[in-house]
This record gives sequence, structure tokens and C-alpha cells, in this order.
Amino acid sequence: MKTRNIIIIFLALVSSVTTLALLQASSPQRKHVIKKQAFGTVPEGPVDFYIMTNSRGMDVRAMNYGGIIVSLRVPDKKGVLADVVLGFDALDGYLNNKPYFGAIIGRYANRIANGKFTLNGVECRLARNHGMNSLHGGLRGFDKVLWHCEQFENNQGISVVFTYTSKDGEEGYPGNLKTKVTYTLMEQNELQIEYEATTDKVTSVNLTNHSYFNLKGEGNGDILKHELMLNADRFTPVDSTLIPTGELRSVAGTPIDFNKPTAIGARIDANNEQLAIAHGYDHNFVLDRKGTGLELAGRVDEPQSGRVLEVYTTEPGVQLYTGNFLDGTITGKHGHVYNKHAAFCLETQHFPDSPNHPNFPSTILKPGQTYHSRTVYKFSTE
Ligand code: BGC
Repeated sequence: MKTRNIIIIFLALVSSVTTLALLQASSPQRKHVIKKQAFGTVPEGPVDFYIMTNSRGMDVRAMNYGGIIVSLRVPDKKGVLADVVLGFDALDGYLNNKPYFGAIIGRYANRIANGKFTLNGVECRLARNHGMNSLHGGLRGFDKVLWHCEQFENNQGISVVFTYTSKDGEEGYPGNLKTKVTYTLMEQNELQIEYEATTDKVTSVNLTNHSYFNLKGEGNGDILKHELMLNADRFTPVDSTLIPTGELRSVAGTPIDFNKPTAIGARIDANNEQLAIAHGYDHNFVLDRKGTGLELAGRVDEPQSGRVLEVYTTEPGVQLYTGNFLDGTITGKHGHVYNKHAAFCLETQHFPDSPNHPNFPSTILKPGQTYHSRTVYKFSTE
């Protein structure tokens, strides 16, 4: 009896050790990691950043203040890593982050004309923080709040999940808005950003991330020789205050056409009313979409380093902003001075001022619905 039991236990042990060995052999070597580090404090609590590193060495640092992407290091064609996003060395810089470097933007990305719109017959009044207009969520948008953060790992990669509940009436927007933004670093050097939100009153939502990219590395000159392709036949022209006129205008035959890869700087000073208004590119492009899933919005190729960024999104639009308002007054990381065109932004979004343009895709979110959007920044080399 005793010998039989010993044999059974022995066989069970052998079998479980084998199973474990097989599992290890069949699962790829995981070298990706998340580390958490203190970055300072704000009145609402401690600020930490989370460093996600994948097995190819790409790393992303994101912090719970504003959900800001603090750094993003990707290899060039020789395998040399560089940080390709603008930002600051210390938390202080981010507390006065006028250009919104790397931040989550909400509740409404870009502008709302005269800081007002009407929902179900009720007028919503927002802070006018950019001339007469409301910009990027108002005086204290999602870029300036402390988000709750959790980290986890799944088959796709490693993620940090930021959550924040914006109270009914915050910055003038109706409804308690429960927001969740997930950053996932994947093994294929892709950073995926997933946005979700629910409300208890009808409201308007348009979320994005405001990273400023320079594929040569932040602080390494301007982005005028970066080659850009945008999958868009139309854009939304703006008035003198950068509010869309409501027209969806063809880009054909204009310096706003990026259907064929073209250096960002090739036509930036061309004689064009829209470029003059914005002092460069600061326009929402209407993406040529086939369906509702992830589709390629644009591709940027930096010839010197060979770094390539592709942006995929479920959103109908993308804001191309070429850092026109950067004027050398901001000193960022490592003492780098950020001059005009030191970076470009590709902010995936619904169109600016949509609540005031019934012909634009709707940004209305009702109780019972879930806002969901996804964007992937895919890095490679050429
Ligand atoms: C806007 C610009 C603005 C920049 C920084 C972009 O999304 O389109 O007009 O200056 O953000 O706030």
C-alpha cells in the first residue's frame, strides 16, 4: 500500500514537472517589464511614473499626472535608442505644461467655438481658455488631473490603466464621466492607446493623446525633413480663430495634400490662406476610412535615423499640428530649447467643434452607451 502511494506521488511529480517544462518551452521568453518610480507630489497626491520596457528594448514612461507620456525611446536603423517625444526632466515643467506635451486630452480634444454648445435644448458653457474658444477640455482638463493607475500584463504586452471620474459639471460638461485610458506596449514596438468612457447624462466626449514627436530624437532640430503621408482626401478648413468652418474641403492641388509622402517642410511656407492662419499645419484631416476598425491614418519617415512611425486609429480624424506655437521660450529635457517646428503631433480624434456642426460625425455620448476608441503608434525602421 505504502509503496503504491509512493509510486503514485512519484508519477504525479514527474508528470507535473514535465508539464511545467513544456509550458515554459512553448511560451516565448518574456523579458518585458513595468517599473514604478516616484516623480514628485501634487496637492491631490503622489505622482509616479511607470516605465514599460519590451523585449526589444523599446521603453515608454507614463505618469499618473495627466496620463502624460514622459518619454518614449525607440531604436534607429542601427539599433540606437532615442527619446522621440518632447517633454521635461522634472514634474515642475509638466505643472506648467502649456503645449500639453504627451498628455491625455479631454473631455474634448481641440476647440469648441465660443466655449459653448447645446445638448437636448440645454446650453453648456465651458471655460474660454483660448481667446473666445475652449481648448483641450478647458482650464483644468484631463491633462492636469491625477489619474488612478493600475498595471497589468496580458498576451498582447504590458499595460498601465489610468482611470478618472470627471464630476458632473466639471469644466462645464454635463454628466459624471467615468474615463479609462489604457497604454499597452507591445512586443512589435507598438504603443496602443485605448480610450473608454461612460456617462450618467447626455454629454459630448472626444479624447486623444497630445504627444509631440521628433523621430530624430527630442531636441534634435526641427521636423521639416520628416516625410509624411496622411490617408486623407479632405480636411476641415478653419476660420481665423482655428474653428472649423463646417466645410469638408478637398486637399487636392493644395499644400495640404499628404496623400503621397512629402517632407513636412516642403510646402509649409507656401502662399495658402489655411497655412497662413495656422502659421503652419494645424488642421484636422478627414481620414479615408473603409470601416470602423483600426485603419492606417498616417505614416512618418525620418530619413536620417531611418525611424518610421505609423499611426492606426478607429477615429474619423487626425489633427496634424507642426509645433507652430513653439517659439524657443520652453526649455525641455536635458536643457533642450524647443523652437518652432521642433516636433509634430498626430492627434487622432473626432473633428474639432463637432457639437456645433451637425454634419460632423457625432461626439454625443448617452447614458448606457460606452465611448470606445483605439489608436496604435507603430515604430519601425527603414
Ligand atoms: C491644436 C493647436 C494648439 C496645440 C497646443 C493642438 O491640438 O490644434 O492649435 O496650439 O494643440 O495646445
